[in-house]
Amino acid sequence: MILQKGWAAARPYEKVYDDEESVKVLQQYAKIEKDYRYALREMCAKLENLDDYCSTNFSHNPIHHMESRIKSPESIMEKMHRRGYKIDLRTLKDLVYDIAGIRVICNYVSDIEYIIKLLMQQRNLRIRIIKDYIANPKKSGYRSIHIVFEKQMFVENEEVWIPIEIQFRTIAMDMWASLEHELRYKGDGHISKEDEDNLRKYAEQLYEIDMNMQKIFEKK
Ligand code: GTP
Ligand code: MG
Repeated sequence: MILQKGWAAARPYEKVYDDEESVKVLQQYAKIEKDYRYALREMCAKLENLDDYCSTNFSHNPIHHMESRIKSPESIMEKMHRRGYKIDLRTLKDLVYDIAGIRVICNYVSDIEYIIKLLMQQRNLRIRIIKDYIANPKKSGYRSIHIVFEKQMFVENEEVWIPIEIQFRTIAMDMWASLEHELRYKGDGHISKEDEDNLRKYAEQLYEIDMNMQKIFEKK
């Protein structure tokens, strides 16, 4: 399995936040950024081990590949201001739960369910938020399951629970999301109503293919 680093920020940010409050929070955040990095690294290792376990026991790798990234300070500030959050470290820690992010790209929908089940059995992980955009796709057609886990970490002997957002999707869902994202921010960023309808339709067709591939896999 390949671990790729990083993905592009969801939105291009034009504004620089250099006001006193923002600068202060980012200075404070710089001191705890490592906690997110350590948690992310351990979570990626855990996922690789689960994939390895499946390969050893069932001769099947549920994870096709993974990507991981730490949200940039600019992107954290953009999100806090866009959402109208109070600009302080407490709010950053409590409400910006996608600083550490992983995309787990699986072969089949059943692989996603299996990996989630294995993660739920881990003692040093708890779940904060689940958004199931496979059962309930977004209006755009977007499908994935987003789970915010909190991972138990020990920083200078203090227990802390660090949030990590994992986006689980199939190869087909990832293909659609990458291209749709590229199209959305290409040129003036405008997508006609007709093309929006087409994109939603293609997402549905890809989901149908996912289900059909799954059926062939289950016969093996
Ligand atoms: P953010 O502030 O962007 O994190 O939004 P949010 O907290 O409301 O989370 P949401 O559940 O909407 O998911 C956010 C992430 O999911 C984005 O950063 C994208 O990676 C992905 N995503 C959500 N909707 C879409 C979509 O319509 N198209 C694509 N390509 N990606 C999407
Ligand atoms: Mg996000």
